[in-house]
Amino acid sequence: MKLKIAVLAGDGIGPEVTAQAIKTLEAIAEVYDHEFEFESAPVGAVAIDETGNPLPEETLDLCEASDAVLFGAIGDPKYDNDPSAKVRPEQGLLRLRKGLGLFTNIRPIKAYETLIDKSPLKREIIEGTDFTIYRELTGGIYFGEKQLSKDGKEASDLCSYSEKEIERIAHLAFKAARNRKKKLTLVDKANVLETSRLWRKVVTAIGKSYKDVSLDFLFVDNAAMQIILNPSQFDVILTENMFGDIISDEGSVIGGSIGLLASASVGDKSALFEPIHGSYPQAKGKDIANPIASILSAAMLLEHFGLHDEADLIDQAVERALEIGMVTQDLDKDSTYGTRKVGEFIADYILTFDGELFINKDNIDMGQSTII
Ligand code: IPM
Ligand code: MN
Repeated sequence: MKLKIAVLAGDGIGPEVTAQAIKTLEAIAEVYDHEFEFESAPVGAVAIDETGNPLPEETLDLCEASDAVLFGAIGDPKYDNDPSAKVRPEQGLLRLRKGLGLFTNIRPIKAYETLIDKSPLKREIIEGTDFTIYRELTGGIYFGEKQLSKDGKEASDLCSYSEKEIERIAHLAFKAARNRKKKLTLVDKANVLETSRLWRKVVTAIGKSYKDVSLDFLFVDNAAMQIILNPSQFDVILTENMFGDIISDEGSVIGGSIGLLASASVGDKSALFEPIHGSYPQAKGKDIANPIASILSAAMLLEHFGLHDEADLIDQAVERALEIGMVTQDLDKDSTYGTRKVGEFIADYILTFDGELFINKDNIDMGQSTII
């Protein structure tokens, strides 16, 4: 397959982790004889520094002209601590989501057997957890009208949703549930919010055409509690933009590190793949950031184009890295392996994969070869 992939590495650790995802995709292209063409463009704080705009016109044009976007991270502390900043890196990502019409954000959460004891939650709570969050991404309070009174003493953000915005993501979530454990949970705040009541009405009506999927509802405060009390009860969670943002970070605790969580953002025409962790500026350039979330985002990209074997091979390489402790310090504080080394291991695993791999950890530790 021939794919043109726009690379928007962005800020902080974005470039380091994205480089490992590219390395992984290049290994896949070689093994499976695909042609992946990568082209980079600036976004976020880096783009503000270069052009004054967190999403330059050329960057959006490149994304529109590409089959997919591989995204790193955006954000810089110099903007976080300045509430009066008019231009912010995050605007780059939000405009990109809106501009490309990426209305559905998919965030899989699972407990890896080998990492279960690394989670701050107890083994018996997280064992068997495997759910996916379908987060609406281009509506709600993120994109509603924003106001600040003239005297600067009052502010408001409007949360609004239309039937159409709810319907299109609901269909995708029901279809996903149909191919999984056939359970869909709508997370909302229908006891308080009018928008949530509209979500319930629309999703209930759509549910009638997915009779094989069981539908239930949870208020977001209860959902926040259930996700850490009994996460294995979930299959597909469907929710609006802000609630999805919050509960997906919460869900990341289950896997042991936010550095493992990948995501796909899809619309009718475009698709973007990004790790859910942010730019982690403290780690920038130190070769300590976990590249796995970015690598798994690349696997989601392949899956999106129907390249299932290729995506499975990446998943398998990642599981192997976790199994043998080829991980960064977020997963093992005594680890001496860095971002690049983990990425190299995963790419090597793919390149030398023949179904009968024998990994020699002594050689890895001596820095000789990763696989023999
Ligand atoms: C995410 C991030 C973004 C969001 C920020 C960077 C705007 O937290 O992708 O979850 O809030 O959507
Ligand atoms: Mn977030």
